[in-house]
Amino acid sequence: MKLSPDPITLQKQKAALKAVEHVEDGFIVGLGSGSTAAFAVEAIGERIRIEGIHVMGIPSSYQAFELAVQHGIPVTTLEEHPVIDVTIDGADQLTPELTLIKGGGAALAREKIVASASKVNIIIADAAKKAPYLGCNNQFVPVEVIPFALSPVKRRLAEMGGKVTAREAKGKLGPIITDNSNAIIDVVFGEIKNPAELAVKIKMIPGVAETGLFVGLTDIAYLGTAEGVEKFTAKRA
Ligand code: A5P
Repeated sequence: MKLSPDPITLQKQKAALKAVEHVEDGFIVGLGSGSTAAFAVEAIGERIRIEGIHVMGIPSSYQAFELAVQHGIPVTTLEEHPVIDVTIDGADQLTPELTLIKGGGAALAREKIVASASKVNIIIADAAKKAPYLGCNNQFVPVEVIPFALSPVKRRLAEMGGKVTAREAKGKLGPIITDNSNAIIDVVFGEIKNPAELAVKIKMIPGVAETGLFVGLTDIAYLGTAEGVEKFTAKRA
């Protein structure tokens, strides 16, 4: 991998390279989505090419699928491999306890399915993603919603105290459409005191397919910093 002169990109690359050390010959690997996870996919492709390891990837999005093909990673499915050895993915915000907000790239539902099917989940990010609590700096929580339920779900989320915005598509008029043909509502709650409780409350609203709150799903996080890579660990719920 050609290391970037851009300091933030370099932090993402350093975190990705560290995480990819966990990939072993014969592994089924969950492939995350977003710009940081893309570096992990590239690095896995390099290990296949250079070291000759045999791994198969389960992509968490169409983006991850395309990158896997581009970097020579054979892809498989959860039907064929319902248990994943290790997943490497990015995050929009993470706390030192490894609770996360994900879904900035609208891939949250498949990312959570892949994470929950994995023996080990590794999150990689640049240092700016670390926060003392979720919702810090008005970070929004993405919520994936069946389009038929968009209006009632928006109302319910607003009643829960959220500032809601239906995410617009780019290069297409109207709402963004996820890989699962759903819409996304981005919700700002301010400080999220109890992410697990909030995740359940949101998930209980009819029409909600998934929330971007990831609680008790992460084992390890590698954060690229100016000096190197910081490691965090947590117990899975
Ligand atoms: C995709 O839906 C997200 O969960 C990404 O993993 C997250 O937005 C992080 O993306 P970046 O690595 O591009 O910041």
